[in-house]
Parts: sequence; structure tokens; C-alpha cells
Amino acid sequence: MNQLPSDLERVLISAEAIQSRVKELANQISQDFKGVDSLYLVGILKGAFIFLADLTRELEVSHTVDFMALSSYGKTTTSGAVRILMDLREPIEGRHVVIVEDILDTGHTLSYLYHILKGRNPASIHTCVLVRKKRESMEVPLDYLGFDIPDVWVVGYGLDFADKYRTLPYIAELKRR
Ligand code: PRP
Repeated sequence: MNQLPSDLERVLISAEAIQSRVKELANQISQDFKGVDSLYLVGILKGAFIFLADLTRELEVSHTVDFMALSSYGKTTTSGAVRILMDLREPIEGRHVVIVEDILDTGHTLSYLYHILKGRNPASIHTCVLVRKKRESMEVPLDYLGFDIPDVWVVGYGLDFADKYRTLPYIAELKRR
């Protein structure tokens, strides 16, 4: 493998491992939603855009892709207030919704979103998260999970540090300063 950028400690999940797990997740979702004609994938910007782009191209059931943008405050505190910056384009009432997230950290974002979208009366609501940090987090239903990772700062495959490193094909641990 090429040398890592100097800010990065080590690769946690290789590009190959991510690609193969994304295929598995897409296969699982395709099986679970076979015959459903109103599958609605909701990607959470910005972090989920790469995961969603790969996942959507592996799905074998017809579906619609949409995005929401959220901002969260108090990441390092327990406040965890979340606000909608950009909402869905269409109503989701009666549709089968899958929320697609890159990472579950404190769980505030996914928990907030889950309850907001559930309140819009979808036919069903599921969650698909690529990586979950091993730490204390809010209780959120997780239906599809890619990987569990240690509680370290990670970048790559959509995840950033000050908007850097999102386009790395692997997920890596950032060095502590
Ligand atoms: C990241 C990530 C999740 C959220 C998870 O987003 O994309 O949406 O944090 O953290 P939580 O479980 O502690 O709520 P971030 O706020 O960094 O914005 P970004 O996706 O635009 O980089």
C-alpha cells in the first residue's frame, strides 16, 4: 500500500474490505425489500455521500435516493442538539425508508432523525450504518451495520477531519495531536 498521509495513524478498514461489505449490505437490503416498489434511501450529508453512492449502485431493487443535511452541536458534550439544514424533497408517508449513515458515534444524529422520520408515517423505517464506534451511545435501532470500530477519530470513505480526507478509499485512524 502507498504511504499514509502523515496525519494518519493506521488504516482501520481497507478499501477492499469496505467494498465487499457494502456489496453484502446491498444484497441483504435487496433481499429484504424484494417486491417493494417504494424503497426510499435517505443519505445524511455530508458524510454518507460516498457510502450511499456505492450502496445504491449495488442494490437490485428499485429505489429512490434522497438526502438530508443536519447540523449537530455539542459533539463533545451531552447536549447533542441536532437541527435540519436541508430536508427531503418528497413526503415519505407510506414509503419504505432506509436511513443511510456513515458513522454512529454518540448516536444523537441517527436517533433524532429516526424519530423525526418515523413521525412522518412511513410504511417502515430501517437504518443502515457503515461504522459504529465502540463507545457509550444513544439507543438507536440498527438494522444494517458494516463494521464496529474502536473509539478513535476516523477519516476516509466520506468521513472527514475539517473537511479533509473524505475521498480516501479506506477508513483510517487520525493521529492524536
Ligand atoms: C458525522 C456523521 C454523522 C454524525 C454521527 O457528521 O456523518 O452524521 O457525525 O455522529 P453522532 O452519532 O455523534 O451524532 P458531522 O456532524 O461530522 O457532519 P458531516 O457528515 O457533514 O461531516
